[in-house]
Amino acid sequence: MALVSTKEMFDKAFEGKYAIGAFNINNMEVVQAVTRAAKELNSPVMLQVSKSALEYAGPEYLMGMVNAAVEETGVDLALHLDHGPDLETIKKVIDIGFTSVMYDGSHLDFEENVANTKEVVDYAHARGVVVEAELGVLAGVEDDVNVAEEDATYTDPDQALEFIQRTGCDSLAIAIGTSHGAVKFKGEPKLRFDILEDITNKLEAAGIKNYPIVLHGASSVDQDTVAKCNKYGGKLEGSKGIPVEMLRKATSMAVCKINMDTDIRLEMTAAVREVFVEDPAAFDPRKYLGAGRDAVQEMIKGKIINVLGSDNKA
Ligand code: G3H
Ligand code: 13P
Ligand code: ZN
Repeated sequence: MALVSTKEMFDKAFEGKYAIGAFNINNMEVVQAVTRAAKELNSPVMLQVSKSALEYAGPEYLMGMVNAAVEETGVDLALHLDHGPDLETIKKVIDIGFTSVMYDGSHLDFEENVANTKEVVDYAHARGVVVEAELGVLAGVEDDVNVAEEDATYTDPDQALEFIQRTGCDSLAIAIGTSHGAVKFKGEPKLRFDILEDITNKLEAAGIKNYPIVLHGASSVDQDTVAKCNKYGGKLEGSKGIPVEMLRKATSMAVCKINMDTDIRLEMTAAVREVFVEDPAAFDPRKYLGAGRDAVQEMIKGKIINVLGSDNKA
């Protein structure tokens, strides 16, 4: 077994009206939780690594853990760079074996985003690696980016078509109301499915069929998990995620990849906090990190079955 590209995964997901879960990894416990859930349910998954995750764990450790997961599970796993900031980082991960990269030029003006994305696509395609790009600006907080809700902009469907035609990117992340982090909406959750539909219609009218769309910022922020964090000493306020029904609707449309990181962080934190509070004498990291790993594995299984519909598709 080896890491796979996302090409076939997305083709099958589009046809089957389900989506591939893209889960952020930073450490061994999360790699094991995600890939063991995938194995149990015979589901393809994407493991994705941000620039700060690369810095945190180190590329050699990440590759070592991911290769071990490939050996252990035997399911289709793709390894993806999340929010790639520049060509230099992208070259580095392609050299060490990533099968998919994202170039995130969403904060740039259209022409600059097109030019940079095209450069990445040329480099990656020459090496058999697929490219995700982004158009439109999501609200929310990542390590290096903090976008206020009023500065977020929805993806323009005409621009999306032109962007894909000019860059040749293999998938496109769009902004339709999702956002990064645990506080996604102040009022009622709302996603612009009309924009998603418009994008697909324009692509199809231009002869681009079954084009995979990506949703970032798609954690559901389960309120029971938030309550558990807070019960055991956490202080998470105003958290609200994307309702599961909305994600299911997205998978029935052109969305083939759904990104989730916040839900992993919350699940891990709630489980670790519980061990510390329930058993103050515990000081073996295997006890609390193991509890975190088990909780994340169960949560991912729930996502695969109830949100993504990717079980038994590997
Ligand atoms: O969208 C960003 C992901 O949640 C990764 O976050 O940069 O803190 O690793 P990070
Ligand atoms: P969440 O913050 O909703 O988990 O989104 C993660 C993400 O989009 C990673 O790229
Ligand atoms: Zn993201």
